[in-house]
Amino acid sequence: MGWVEEAKRRAAIEAAREVRDGLIVGLGSGSTAAYAIEEIGRRVKEEGLRILAIPTSYQALLLAVKYGIPTTTLHEHPIIDLTIDGADQIDPDLNLIKGMGGALTREKIVASSSKRFVIVADERKLTDKLGRGHPIPVEIIPFAQPLVVSRVRELGGEPHLRERDRGVPYITDNGNFILDVNFGAVENPKELDLRLKAIPGVVETGLFIGMAHAAYVGTKTSVEKIFRREPT
Ligand code: 5RP
Repeated sequence: MGWVEEAKRRAAIEAAREVRDGLIVGLGSGSTAAYAIEEIGRRVKEEGLRILAIPTSYQALLLAVKYGIPTTTLHEHPIIDLTIDGADQIDPDLNLIKGMGGALTREKIVASSSKRFVIVADERKLTDKLGRGHPIPVEIIPFAQPLVVSRVRELGGEPHLRERDRGVPYITDNGNFILDVNFGAVENPKELDLRLKAIPGVVETGLFIGMAHAAYVGTKTSVEKIFRREPT
C-alpha cells in the first residue's frame, strides 16, 4: 500500500474511534470514508459496538451491509449524532469541496442532519482556497442542463458535464447529472454556493461551508486533527 492509501486508512481508523455505543452514525462515501466504514464494521463485529448507521450513498449502504453494520433511515432517526465523510478539498476554515464521488446531495443532507460532522482525508486535500486547481461538482436536474450551463458561465464558471463513459453522462443515486465547474480559486465560497443554489434546476452544490467540526488528515507519517476555527 502506498503512502496515500496508508494516510487515508490511518485517518479513517482514528476518526472511527469517535463512534460510541448507542450513536446514530452517518456513513460517508468515497475511498477514505470506505476505510472508516470498514473499521466501524470491525468494531461492531469484534467489540460488540451497538450503533445504527445512515449511509450517504448506495456505495456506503453496500459497504455497511458487507461489514455487518445495521442501518436505519432519516425517517426513523432524523437526528444523526456523528457523521464521518471524506472531502476533495479542505480550506483552513474547514470549508469543503465534496462530490467527486457523486454523492454530494445525500452527503449534504446527512451532514446537515448531524450534530457532529468530521472529515477524513489525506494531506493532498488541504488547500488555501477552495476551487484552486479543482472543480466544484454541482448536481443538476437533467432537463435543466442548458439553462444551468449558461447561468454558471454568467457567474464566471466553466462547466463540464461529468461522464461515466465517453458521451454517456454520469447519473447520481438521485437520477441526476453532475456538472464539474471550474471557477479557479474562490474568494467567497458561501456567496458562490448561494448563487449556484439560486439557479433553477440546481439540486445541490459540492460546497460545504461552515459544516465540518473537525478533520482527521493523514500525512506521510501521522494523523493531524484539525478543528474548526470559531469566527472572532
Ligand atoms: C463523494 C465525496 C467523497 O467523500 C470525496 O470525493 C472524497 O473521496 P476520496 O476519499 O475517495 O478521495 O464527496 O461524493
